[in-house]
Amino acid sequence: MCLKNKEKIKKIAVLTSGGDSPGMNPAIRAIVRTAIYNKIEVLGIKNGYDGLINDWTIPLTSRSVGGIINKGGTMLFSARSEDFQKPAGRQAALKTLKKYNVSGLIVIGGDGTYRGAHALHNETGFSVIGVPGTIDNDIAGTDYTIGFYTAVDTAMQAIDKIRDTAVSHNRLFLVEVMGRHAGFIALASAIAGGAEDALIPETKTDIKELCKRLHEGKKRGKISSIIVVAEGDEEGNAIEIAKKIEKKGGYETRVSVIGYQQRGGSPSALDRILGTRLGNAAVEELLKGTQSAMVGIQQNKVVTHPLEMAWKEKKSINKTLVSLIGIMSV
Ligand code: F6P
Repeated sequence: MCLKNKEKIKKIAVLTSGGDSPGMNPAIRAIVRTAIYNKIEVLGIKNGYDGLINDWTIPLTSRSVGGIINKGGTMLFSARSEDFQKPAGRQAALKTLKKYNVSGLIVIGGDGTYRGAHALHNETGFSVIGVPGTIDNDIAGTDYTIGFYTAVDTAMQAIDKIRDTAVSHNRLFLVEVMGRHAGFIALASAIAGGAEDALIPETKTDIKELCKRLHEGKKRGKISSIIVVAEGDEEGNAIEIAKKIEKKGGYETRVSVIGYQQRGGSPSALDRILGTRLGNAAVEELLKGTQSAMVGIQQNKVVTHPLEMAWKEKKSINKTLVSLIGIMSV
């Protein structure tokens, strides 16, 4: 632990922004408790950047973050702020930070959240640290984002249940999971759920080829199949793709959209530990005097990168996992 600038920091603020994710609460708890351990006060900002602009704040103590480690969602609430995208909004936010004598801001969210923090830092010099919190796992510079594996568990449990009925009726099911621009949840839940395929935006979806594979599977004795579809697949959503499969392959299909369940629920052990490690690391960065960075986890080590990495670098999917799905569906 580097305590070089510890004396200079008296108060920090924390907010959650963008789509919530299970594990944000453990991260808030870790930030508050690490700060208090280091004799730093913490101001909670409600409703993301909107709360910063409008002075919706709450002092956070060790006790006020008690009993939240197992809770989904975010005790600070979240929002996607349009006002903060404008310089006037960021100036209003700075006013709130100054009013409370805050000298560092920790933001938990996805790349949109990081963009906001980066703009605030560039314009005002205010110290900002980003913590990756999104179920989509689409942030470069970290192997996993907080909430990803809980969402995968939720999707997997839904797939398990769908499998029961798919087998009973010899049916082909398309299960849609979240991921507007990324297929990480689809890929991981397809492997964990033993699906036939994962249709994701990062790889080309070929309906004809898919139908051929389904047909060959049938010939090998498969009586039911599950295809996981990322909502952002370039061929469309699960309903649209199901129609194409019915037309091209002559299959009768059923569709199940898992939806927002994936964003909720008690965080898994993995996400609680990740939230705790990254929340702690964010405070440590402010203590070190870091003025702008994101924290992440790579090869089980806490790392830091520039905030811009989140939108300048596209995180690639693991190609081995893609081929594993094919191998496992023989
Ligand atoms: O948090 C990311 C995400 O879950 C995407 O996968 C999804 O498309 C999006 O949020 C939807 O969020 P909202 O309806 O809150 O804008």
